[in-house]
Amino acid sequence: MLNLKTVNDFDFNGKKVIIRVDFNVPVVDGKITDDNRIVKSIKTIKYVIDNGAKEVILMSHMGKVKKEEDKVSNDLRIVVPRLESLLNMSVDFLEHTSGNELLNDLANSKNCVKLMQNTRYEDLNNKRESNNDENLGRFWASLADIAIFDAFGASHRNHASTSSMFKHINCGVGFLVNEEISKIEEIINDNSHPFIIVMGGAKVSDKISVINNLIDKCDRLIIGGAMSFTFLKALGYNVGKSLVDDNHIEFCRNLMEKYASKISLPFDVVTNNGIKTINNILDDEMGLDIGPETVKVFEENLKTASRVIANGTMGKNEDSKYALGSKEIYTFLANSNAKVLVGGGDTASFVNDIGLSDKFYHISTGGGATLEYLGGNLGSIFEILNSSSVTYGKNKKRNKEINN
Ligand code: 3PG
Repeated sequence: MLNLKTVNDFDFNGKKVIIRVDFNVPVVDGKITDDNRIVKSIKTIKYVIDNGAKEVILMSHMGKVKKEEDKVSNDLRIVVPRLESLLNMSVDFLEHTSGNELLNDLANSKNCVKLMQNTRYEDLNNKRESNNDENLGRFWASLADIAIFDAFGASHRNHASTSSMFKHINCGVGFLVNEEISKIEEIINDNSHPFIIVMGGAKVSDKISVINNLIDKCDRLIIGGAMSFTFLKALGYNVGKSLVDDNHIEFCRNLMEKYASKISLPFDVVTNNGIKTINNILDDEMGLDIGPETVKVFEENLKTASRVIANGTMGKNEDSKYALGSKEIYTFLANSNAKVLVGGGDTASFVNDIGLSDKFYHISTGGGATLEYLGGNLGSIFEILNSSSVTYGKNKKRNKEINN
């Protein structure tokens, strides 16, 4: 059981505070296409400012930075205008990510809130961020008195800014992370039934630990999206040119042997060549969405659900021709009485795009992080935050003494 300090347990007055956020937002043609992660981080940032913090340094990764050229497409400066407008205040951008250059940036900055350049720029220097470099973590920790972790989307990464930095500073979680964890724990531990898991997306490999962790707890596992073709192939169907995760056929076969009565798979699909039942897919056809009969059956399965965890879409939504199955299923879930937790990443963007963002019990800001958490694989950050709660105490009075 996690015992984490939250922002409410700190006295921020006159303090320097680092907030590790996840501003890894999608950018297309130089424009942010989904600002949900920025919007959701504002409550913590405002709280820290309103409670008297002297300086707030925001840190985040963006994309992957493997070579010098990757810096341009992953320049975190793109977030500043949106951040300023949501906070209604000016934000200083710190160009550098370590050393005297960063210290100079800080010394020359004027505003209370500062956003540091992409933490993964440090990956150009021996992958210091991604390899969880202890010295880098310690250096970042030395910049402040308190660090708040509010980057749920990156909580499964053991990197310098999400792991080692927190070992060297009094730390706790922000509102976003606290809400994510509470909602996930609540939906898993609520005893109401039927409890149904809806899975989609391309890769079986991403979902194995979640399936293993929850299959005995749930009443039904509904599988759509490209990952369903690995299951169908494991059952002996010809899936034509549909995407198949060949390394996981055995996993799917074993799961079907043990849990066939609990698992719903598509029995018709929309292919590049029209709607086909699964025993009629030709060699040159590719399944790209669930078919209309499958939609009806999945909805029948979901009709009486009390709790649902939904992660992944039912088809290749980037092409509107193949987005209908996902639209139907997520609209059905949005209008149902069930408590529905939507796993983040692409699924969150999809429900947002079709105007359903405020219709669910919870939409996670994490994609991979939600799956890892649901699979019981908590990142090292939670262990560090848990022990910080012991090291630094969990009540304000004691924190005050320690912080002064
Ligand atoms: C995400 O978008 O899932 C998180 O920001 C983590 O990003 P990463 O997969 O690049 O580590």
